[in-house]
Amino acid sequence: MLLLAPTQTTALFNYLTALFDVLFRRRFDEKWQSNSSSAGLGQQQKLEALSKYLRAYTKIFKKNPRARFFNITYVDAFAGTGRLRGRELGPLAKYFPGWAESAEEYRKGSVPRALEIEPPFDKYIFIEKDSEKCEELKTLAARFPSKSIKIINEDANSALLKWCKQLDRNHERAVVFLDPFGASVEWNVIAALGRTRAVDLWILFPFFAVNRMLIRNRKPPEAWATRLTKVFGTRDWESEFYSSTEWESLLDPKRPIKLISKTADPYTISDFFIKQLRKEFVKVSEPLALHNSTGSLLFLLYFAAANQRSAENRAENRE
Ligand SMILES: C[S@@+](CC[C@H](N)C(=O)[O-])C[C@H]1O[C@@H](n2cnc3c(N)ncnc32)[C@H](O)[C@@H]1O
Repeated sequence: MLLLAPTQTTALFNYLTALFDVLFRRRFDEKWQSNSSSAGLGQQQKLEALSKYLRAYTKIFKKNPRARFFNITYVDAFAGTGRLRGRELGPLAKYFPGWAESAEEYRKGSVPRALEIEPPFDKYIFIEKDSEKCEELKTLAARFPSKSIKIINEDANSALLKWCKQLDRNHERAVVFLDPFGASVEWNVIAALGRTRAVDLWILFPFFAVNRMLIRNRKPPEAWATRLTKVFGTRDWESEFYSSTEWESLLDPKRPIKLISKTADPYTISDFFIKQLRKEFVKVSEPLALHNSTGSLLFLLYFAAANQRSAENRAENRE
């Protein structure tokens, strides 16, 4: 059986992360500075960045004789239907050759984009909570009869925790894409993915939803505070994002006046999330910022790379 020596796995890992930097990092930085875009364009940038990475990933794992040892899986945990929402083209479309085709291409969601990657992954897992969307995914999967596709109709958090437990980290590697609408990914799931040391993670952080919960002149109500703690994996967001000052009241010296203010800006929030990701992953990118048409920051897309420690341990312990 072919095993990777520590130096080989490190080289492979360095190659993948360097590739990520070359392909996306400069654009990430530019976008983070940018203040306006359109939601549709952001969606395309996100899917394009992911597709380019998946293409490079499968190429490395299928063509490199040493990396071929691993079985590779793509997990799309907020899979959708395979088709992005958007206005349908009207009857005029038939008068413009190629128009309908490019619109279809534009509407392609993460699932068909991943299924079309060559060389392919060994396995595809699509998780979707909505049962009707799962039916659409089944129709889509039928178009790819040669591929091993599993569709799971379940909450992404519970499905991923189960998947992490059964992952054979000595023989498997995976890319997991988390593309939620809102703040529904729980930190314990991100931590479980990181601890496999076998997963490269693409995660869309719901900046707008999180920022809205971080209200200005007082701490968030307890239900929101609990949600924020689930998103960040710690209650430390409270001291990171808020400051409080206290002074004596002239009217009643026994009841000091306490002023709470939000100090967090988008960069502080992003840096805090990156700090959390770095506790579980070896390398974390700066984000790609996705804005809406009026320039509001909606989401931040991060890439977090797996640790190769398990493979190194295995190589060290080989007979
Ligand atoms: C932003 S869409 C995903 C779009 C998809 N990545 C694409 O490119 O076509 C989010 C999807 O996650 C599903 N969803 C929402 N909450 C979920 C959960 N807790 N577990 C699994 N799926 C969920 C929604 O039904 C929706 O289809």
